Amino acid sequence: MRGPDPYAFAAGYYDLFRAKLGDEALPSVSFFTEFAPSDGYALEIGPGTGRATLAVAAKVAGLVCLERSATMRAVLLAKLAERPHLQARVTVLDVAVPPFRLDRRFDYAYFGGVLEHIRPADRPHLFRAVADHLADGGLLAMDMVLRQPAPDFPERVVDEVTVGECRYELAAAATALGPDESQLTYIYRTFHEDRLLATEKVERRHNMHRPEPVLADLAAAGLAPAPGLVFAGVSAEDPGGVVVRKEASA
Ligand SMILES: C[S@@+](CC[C@H](N)C(=O)[O-])C[C@H]1O[C@@H](n2cnc3c(N)ncnc32)[C@H](O)[C@@H]1O
Repeated sequence: MRGPDPYAFAAGYYDLFRAKLGDEALPSVSFFTEFAPSDGYALEIGPGTGRATLAVAAKVAGLVCLERSATMRAVLLAKLAERPHLQARVTVLDVAVPPFRLDRRFDYAYFGGVLEHIRPADRPHLFRAVADHLADGGLLAMDMVLRQPAPDFPERVVDEVTVGECRYELAAAATALGPDESQLTYIYRTFHEDRLLATEKVERRHNMHRPEPVLADLAAAGLAPAPGLVFAGVSAEDPGGVVVRKEASA
């Protein structure tokens, strides 16, 4: 059963707070685009507002996106509406993984910024479902395979953007619930000429996924590290990218 959508309100602000970082913004669009096979078929889980989707869609023959948030899907569809040349190539489905079943195979699967939403107990099912949808030799790329401690910090302003006469502020706080789990709070505040107009609070869980158990679950699903492509994040700036290949007959 699906819980509340933590992006129901935040979808409209998601790109706003990333735009000023350009190519440095995480999840890394260039990381996920690099492995997309020219003229192949790709599967994206959790495309969100489509930051990577648009770049990957420009490269591949077809892309299927599985996104559980109605508002994130709406933002992605609005972007596709402005890009008629991509519309025939991108299919956006209302699916919360795992499980999922599409009765077809892909050359490439990827998910950026999604693992934090996946409970460790669901991770083997997710990897197995993805492996079942990959062609032999197909690649799977993900980020957020990290060694840092679970976040734990008091409320602080983490970003702000001015649009016209309004200033949008994002504050965050985290409480570690264990070594691999935190409770995150995001507070979106809107100001007009320094007067607070609106406050919206979003709370959700954040799961940490460590390299060793992730690689073990991938191996159990028949997904082996592509040589030189396991990065496993070691710093705050490191997205913790991992790329694996589906072995024949997995
Ligand atoms: C942090 S956002 C990342 C969005 C996008 N991939 C990017 O790189 O900007 C995480 C996205 O994954 C989606 N998501 C999280 N868990 C999911 C699940 N179990 N099934 C499908 N989508 C999921 C969320 O709704 C959200 O759109």
